[in-house]
Amino acid sequence: MSLKLAVIYYSSTGTVDAMARRAAMAGEKAGAEVRLRHVEENAPPAAIDGVEAWRDHVEALADQPTATPEDVTWADAVLLGSPTRFGSVASQLQAFLDGLGPEWAKGTLADKVYAGFTASQTAHGGQESTLLALYTTLHHFGGIVVAPGYTDPTKFTDGNPYGVSHVTGPDNDAPLEDASLDALDHLVERVLMVAGKLTD
Ligand SMILES: Cc1cc2nc3c(=O)[nH]c(=O)nc-3n(C[C@H](O)[C@H](O)[C@H](O)COP(=O)(O)O)c2cc1C
Repeated sequence: MSLKLAVIYYSSTGTVDAMARRAAMAGEKAGAEVRLRHVEENAPPAAIDGVEAWRDHVEALADQPTATPEDVTWADAVLLGSPTRFGSVASQLQAFLDGLGPEWAKGTLADKVYAGFTASQTAHGGQESTLLALYTTLHHFGGIVVAPGYTDPTKFTDGNPYGVSHVTGPDNDAPLEDASLDALDHLVERVLMVAGKLTD
């Protein structure tokens, strides 16, 4: 039976969305059943409308399914993506996670594999603290956090042993390059490898 991978993310302007899509593609390539789900937007319309790229992205995702708690309980492995917001997780993703109290109480978030990815504008702008903040919540789930460490040569280029991260740069629009794409592929392969061992 195929492993089940949920890729659940928030993205305002498309960077983390592109990372999530790459992760989903890598999961499918590895033979997993994949659910790619963005979490619901909760920012006020006036804030969204004030940033063209944000408004365009909200419109682009309008017909795509949003994440539900069942997407997490369904999965053997869950990848979570968030832009870095003041060195931490975006409130939209955190709100989704904070809504998982009933599943937590039933124990259905535990004993599965989790890992995270993020993007920030600057190289030292808090990517690691974002991932560590995300992992705090996952520890409360009883999740098995599978960090990439330096378990593949790609990690010596991408340079983030906590997860995968991308720097969007001064104009906040630097496209994903090989270092991030390869690191995402490796993270997906690694979480599926560990999830496979747990479901044997
Ligand atoms: C409210 C807010 C806080 C941010 N905080 C940081 C930060 O702490 N460090 C940083 O380098 N970039 C920061 N950024 C830039 C975002 O991380 C960047 O725009 C994001 O990764 C782009 O991802 P997206 O296109 O998926 O939304 C911030 C952006 C906003 C809007």
